[in-house]
This record gives sequence, structure tokens and C-alpha cells, in this order.
Amino acid sequence: MKAIILYRSKHHGNTLKLVEAIASTFDDVDTLDVATLDKNEVPDLSAYHIIGVASGIYYGQFDRDLKRVVQAALKPGDKVFALLTYGGEDKWYVRDIDGLCRVCQADLLTSYGCPGYDTWGPFKLKGGVNKGHPTEEEIQGAVNFYRRLETEYGEILEDDYEKRMKRRAYEEAHPRGGLWTLVKNTAKGVAGKKKG
Ligand SMILES: Cc1cc2nc3c(=O)[nH]c(=O)nc-3n(C[C@H](O)[C@H](O)[C@H](O)COP(=O)(O)O)c2cc1C
Repeated sequence: MKAIILYRSKHHGNTLKLVEAIASTFDDVDTLDVATLDKNEVPDLSAYHIIGVASGIYYGQFDRDLKRVVQAALKPGDKVFALLTYGGEDKWYVRDIDGLCRVCQADLLTSYGCPGYDTWGPFKLKGGVNKGHPTEEEIQGAVNFYRRLETEYGEILEDDYEKRMKRRAYEEAHPRGGLWTLVKNTAKGVAGKKKG
């Protein structure tokens, strides 16, 4: 199962620890820090069976730049998983990515999250919260999460990918045309009927 994880980990590199642990354990996992992209650069994700989206939570959300890139890059039918670290309570932060996938007609399959060291704002005064997180156990949890994803979904995702790519290639070879083509074809149809 070929995967790419698009990530942004700008506070303490907490999320990056999860991403790196997965990428160093599984050969077929590429990573991309969206901070390395040019302003309007959109990565081509068409070679991947599944796409990971990973970020710390900033002001209650996944990183905005990451979301912008993901929204521009996702194609209908793409399969997605999310990874996150957060300073506060484990709320359903992944709703962000869920909504974004719906807009792109992609599917969010599952997510893994854990606490991350946080020295943001007032927490800085008391030395931060979640010191030592993600722990070794939490990082291993991310690796186990990915292993399970691959074991349980791998073949299904590869089959689905083959079908999607065939359909995409067919649609590219047989474009349906825009509104103007539709108007012309309708006009031709009407003219043909009158003649007969
Ligand atoms: C600017 C900023 C805003 C944050 N807002 C939240 C928040 O709304 N909820 C939360 O649980 N954690 C929040 N945090 C804590 C981070 O989500 C947490 O430290 C996370 O592990 C950072 O991941 P990173 O090191 O990969 O960037 C915030 C951190 C920063 C720097």
C-alpha cells in the first residue's frame, strides 16, 4: 500500500514524531512537509493508494496551510487518514478534515491522535502542558495504527485504486466537453429531428 503523509508540525515537532515513526517503519510511505511547497504549488498525489494528513491542532483546527494544500490536491475517490497531536482535550478535531474530504468527494477512513507538548500562550508560564508527549508508547501507537490500516484495508484500497485510475484515464481520453459542447450537440440534435 503506497502512501504519502502531508504534514505540518510547527510547534514542537510533536506530530512529526508520529509521521517519522510511521515512515521509518514502512517502506512504502512517503512524507511531505507542506511548508516546503511554493505558495501555489499543488502536489500530485495520483501515485498513492492512501493519503495521510497530519498536524498539530492550532486554535482548534488542523494547520490552515496544510488544509489549503490538501483541498487543492485531493481528487474524487481519494482515500484519506488523519494524524494529530493536541494540547488540550481530545475533541473531535478531525471534523475539519472530514468536511474537507466531503467537499473534494474524497473519503476520510480513520484517524489517530494523542497529546503533544504544548507551551502555547499562558501554558508557557507554567512550563507547558503534556511534557514528554507524545510518549514512546503513543508514538508506537501511531505505528500500530498504520500497521492495522495496512493489514485491514491494504488490498481493498489497492483494488479500489486500480479501478479509479482506469476510470480517470477513460474520462481523460473521452472528455464530455463543457457547456458549449452541450449546446452545440443539442442544437445538432434539434436540427436533425426537423430534417427528418
Ligand atoms: C498557536 C497554537 C495554538 C494552539 N491551539 C490549540 C488548541 O486550540 N487546542 C489544543 O488542544 N491544542 C492547541 N495547541 C497545542 C498544540 O496542538 C500541541 O502542542 C501540538 O502537539 C503541536 O504539534 P506540533 O508540535 O506538531 O506543532 C496550540 C499550539 C499553538 C502553538
